[in-house]
Amino acid sequence: MARLSILVMGLLLFGFWTAIGEEDYKKDPELVQKIGAGTALEVRATGILHVFAPCITVCRDPSWGWCYESYKEDPKIVQAMTKIIPGLKGVIPPDSPKGISYVAGKKKVAACAKHYVGDGGTTDGINEDNTVISWHGLLSIHEPGYHDAIINGVSTVMISYSSWNGNKMHANHTLITAFLKNTLKFRGFVISDWQGIDRITSPPHANHSYSIQAGISAGIDMIMNGESADEPLVPLAKKAPKILVAGILPDNLGYQCGGWTIEWQGFGGNNLTKVDTDYVKSNKFSYAMVVVGEQPYAETHGDSLNLTHPDPGLSTITNVCGAVKCVVIIISGRPLVIQPYVPLMDVLVAAWLPGTEGQEVADVLFGGYGFTRKLPHTWFKTVDQLPMNVGDKHYDPLFPYGHGLTTKPTKAN
Ligand SMILES: *[C@@H]1O[C@H](CO)[C@@H](O)[C@H](O)[C@H]1NC(C)=O
Ligand SMILES: *[C@@H]1O[C@H](CO)[C@@H](O)[C@H](O)[C@H]1NC(C)=O
Ligand SMILES: *[C@@H]1O[C@H](CO)[C@@H](O)[C@H](O)[C@H]1NC(C)=O
Ligand SMILES: *[C@@H]1O[C@H](CO)[C@@H](O)[C@H](O)[C@H]1NC(C)=O
Repeated sequence: MARLSILVMGLLLFGFWTAIGEEDYKKDPELVQKIGAGTALEVRATGILHVFAPCITVCRDPSWGWCYESYKEDPKIVQAMTKIIPGLKGVIPPDSPKGISYVAGKKKVAACAKHYVGDGGTTDGINEDNTVISWHGLLSIHEPGYHDAIINGVSTVMISYSSWNGNKMHANHTLITAFLKNTLKFRGFVISDWQGIDRITSPPHANHSYSIQAGISAGIDMIMNGESADEPLVPLAKKAPKILVAGILPDNLGYQCGGWTIEWQGFGGNNLTKVDTDYVKSNKFSYAMVVVGEQPYAETHGDSLNLTHPDPGLSTITNVCGAVKCVVIIISGRPLVIQPYVPLMDVLVAAWLPGTEGQEVADVLFGGYGFTRKLPHTWFKTVDQLPMNVGDKHYDPLFPYGHGLTTKPTKAN
C-alpha cells in the first residue's frame, strides 16, 4: 500500500494507482520514483521506517476488493512501476550484489513488495482465495513485478494470503525458498501477511504450532501476528470528522480517497444530493455534472460479484441525464456496471480515486488541462464477462484497455 502517509493528518494523499496514467509515466519516467521519494519523506517524518509498499499485484478481475491497489491489469506496466522502490529507499549503488536489501539514509524507508504471488488472480476475484493458473501463467502475469522489485533492491516481500492451485502461499516452500530466494536471489526478509501464518490451517488458528512450523519451513523470515499491526489506525478514527474538507467537486473527500484513508474501510464524507427529474427540468440548467461511484472499502469488504453502483447512483444518472445535458463522473476503484446508462450520458469521466487533490477533476472538466489518460483496466459490459483482460481470445469490452479520449486545454473558459 503506497500510502502509509495517509495515517497522518494534514498530508498530501496521492490518488490510488488506477488514477495515475501510463501516459503520465511515459511523459515523465521519473514520476513514479518521485512519488516514492515524496512518500518516503512524509513517512520518515512520522518516525516510521518501513512501508508496506509497493503493492505490485496484477488485478485480473475487478470483482476483487483490492483492485484499486493494483497499478494495472497489464503485468508490463506493473513491472515498470516498481521504479517507486528506488524512490522509497534510494537508488541502489551500481556495484551492489544482486538482491541486496538497501535503504539510503534518513529520508528513505524500507520498501515491501506484496503480495507474493498471484493475489490478483483468484477465481471470481474473491479476496485471499485460490488462484488457479499454470506455472507459465504465474510467471508471465503475476511474477514479473517481483523480478523487477528485486533488481530495484526491495527490502521485504510479503506473502499473499491466497493459494496457488489449492496450496496456501504461506506454506509453499517451492515458491518462497526455491524460487524467490534461490532462483530470483532475493536477499531481504520474507514476511507473512498479518496473521497469515494462522490462516494456513482451515479454519484459521486451528493449530498455531503447526502453522509456525509450516510457514518457517516454507521460508518466511518474519511473522506478523497479534494486534499490533492494527494500532496506527485506531486513534485516528476518533478524529475523522475533523478531517473533512468541503468545497471541492464532488464535495466528498472520503469517497474520492477510497479505502485506507482516515479509517481502514475509508470514510464517507458529505452526502450527495438527491435530485428528481422535475427539479432538474424546472431549473433550466445549462448542463449537469453527476458524480457517482463506490463507497470506500478495503480488501475483502470490497469484493463484489455484481459491481453495481450503490443507491442512489443510478437513479441520479437516470433522473438528471434524462432531463438535461450531463457529464457523469465515476469515482471508483475499478470499472462498474454502466452499460445500460451510457446512452443517457453526454460525457463519461472515469476519475478513479483521485485522492485529496480531487479538484484536478474540475481542472480537466473546465479545460484548464486536457484529458490524456487511458483506461488501466478493461471496462466490461456485464459482470458475467469477467475475468476479461486485454489480450484475451474473446475480448468484447464496453471500452477496451487503453481507451480514452484526448482533449486539449482551452483558454475559452
Ligand atoms: C506449491 O504450490 C504448487 C501449486 O499448488 C504445488 O504444486 C506445490 O506442491 C506447492 N509446494 C509446496 C512445497 O507446498
Ligand atoms: C498441531 O500440529 C502439530 C505439529 O504438526 C501436531 O503434532 C499436533 O498433533 C497438531 N495438533 C492438533 C490439535 O491438531
Ligand atoms: C446519503 O443520504 C441518503 C438519503 O438521505 C441515505 O440513504 C444514505 O445512507 C446517505 N449516504 C451517506 C454515505 O451518508
Ligand atoms: C452487490 O454485492 C455487494 C457485495 O457482495 C452487496 O453488498 C450488494 O448488496 C450487492 N448488490 C446487489 C444489487 O445485489
